Amino acid sequence: MAQLLITGGAGFIGSHTALVLLEAGHSLVVLDNFQNSSPESLRRVQELAGPEAAAKLRVVEGDIRSAADLEEALGSSTDAVVHFAGLKAVGESVAKPLAYWDVNVCGSRQLLAAMQRAGCRTLVFSSSATLYGIPDVVPIPESAPVQPINPYGHSKAAVERMLSDLAASEPGWRIACLRYFNPVGAHPSGRLGEDPNGIPNNLFPFVSQVAVGRRNRLSVFGGDWPTPDGSGVRDYIHVMDLAEGHRAAVDVLLAEDPQLLTLNLGSGQGHSVLEVVAAFEAASGQAVPYEVVARRPGDAATTVADPSLAAELLRWRTQRGLSQMCRDGWAWQSANPQGYAS
Ligand code: NAD
Ligand code: UFG
Repeated sequence: MAQLLITGGAGFIGSHTALVLLEAGHSLVVLDNFQNSSPESLRRVQELAGPEAAAKLRVVEGDIRSAADLEEALGSSTDAVVHFAGLKAVGESVAKPLAYWDVNVCGSRQLLAAMQRAGCRTLVFSSSATLYGIPDVVPIPESAPVQPINPYGHSKAAVERMLSDLAASEPGWRIACLRYFNPVGAHPSGRLGEDPNGIPNNLFPFVSQVAVGRRNRLSVFGGDWPTPDGSGVRDYIHVMDLAEGHRAAVDVLLAEDPQLLTLNLGSGQGHSVLEVVAAFEAASGQAVPYEVVARRPGDAATTVADPSLAAELLRWRTQRGLSQMCRDGWAWQSANPQGYAS
């Protein structure tokens, strides 16, 4: 079993992954500044993991841009880092690009330098399908051009570039860049889930908040896309499948020779906005009123992963479909209508 540092481990994907890694027997340090999360998520991770595994989780409140915080979190015996910490809102990145270059790019650079000093050269990095921009080919293979169309996407592409330069500069690096498609859903217990600040930018949390009565209606961004029902199509991935993908990536990196992997994590299945609305209504028993409005600038009609490389190299594939994503998302939203502040 390994000693792992999880940056951003209190966040949506990090908290679910922390639970899966604890359940697999690993020891974790979570480094998070809680700027987009709450320590309550980690308390619940410990509760779900049980007392024995919970004792293997240490929390360091700190910033990935601080060498001192990184040194405290890494210590001298970290086997691998899973790096979630970052900013992720596309619209905010257009308004505040320097914040995105600072946290996502400079923060990652600080982390890599601290790993070099600590002698740890194994890293799983949260990349994003956003770096494919408006894709030319769907399903999207990893060989598709990297052509981001917003500062958030540029920051992810820059970190991938930095990682490949680093891996080429000295032997021994084991790196997986995982390009997530659309992570949604929650732990089936309803104890962990996604807790966005303010008005959600993303479809799934918006739909759940309409179902629970926090918002009146969903705006469907475009009804005239070249898709079967005219609404946008995405590759939604259950956050527990995503968490298990990280466990597989850690295992593969630690077991195999040094390598740099770049992998899509998605299901390979596309679902439209209207399909998501219908599935959420069925899972929750609640109406989700919506109106079709203009397209959102920067959206693609369809983005769906080609997930075959991850299946081959990680021996991992998604297990949970749209109805389970909605059922588990509703278990979380209905039990925690105001998120962790409920
Ligand atoms: P999140 O905001 O819930 O989690 C990010 C965590 O990082 C939060 O707990 C936040 O407090 C922490 N953090 C932010 N800045 C920090 C800093 N400077 N120092 C220390 N901690 C800091 O986001 P998430 O959805 O869990 O996403 C995790 C990662 O996955 C991000 O890098 C994101 O870009 C990437 N990603 C997310 C999605 C998605 O749709 N959720 C899709 C693709 C990629
Ligand atoms: N949508 C609506 N109404 C909303 C929100 C979204 O109709 O209120 C539609 C969008 O137009 C799109 C689909 O729902 O067709 C999904 O939109 P999201 O905002 O949930 O997700 P995106 O695919 O646009 O982007 C998300 C993240 C990106 C990430 C990308 C791939 O926001 O950061 O998934 O991982 F890069």
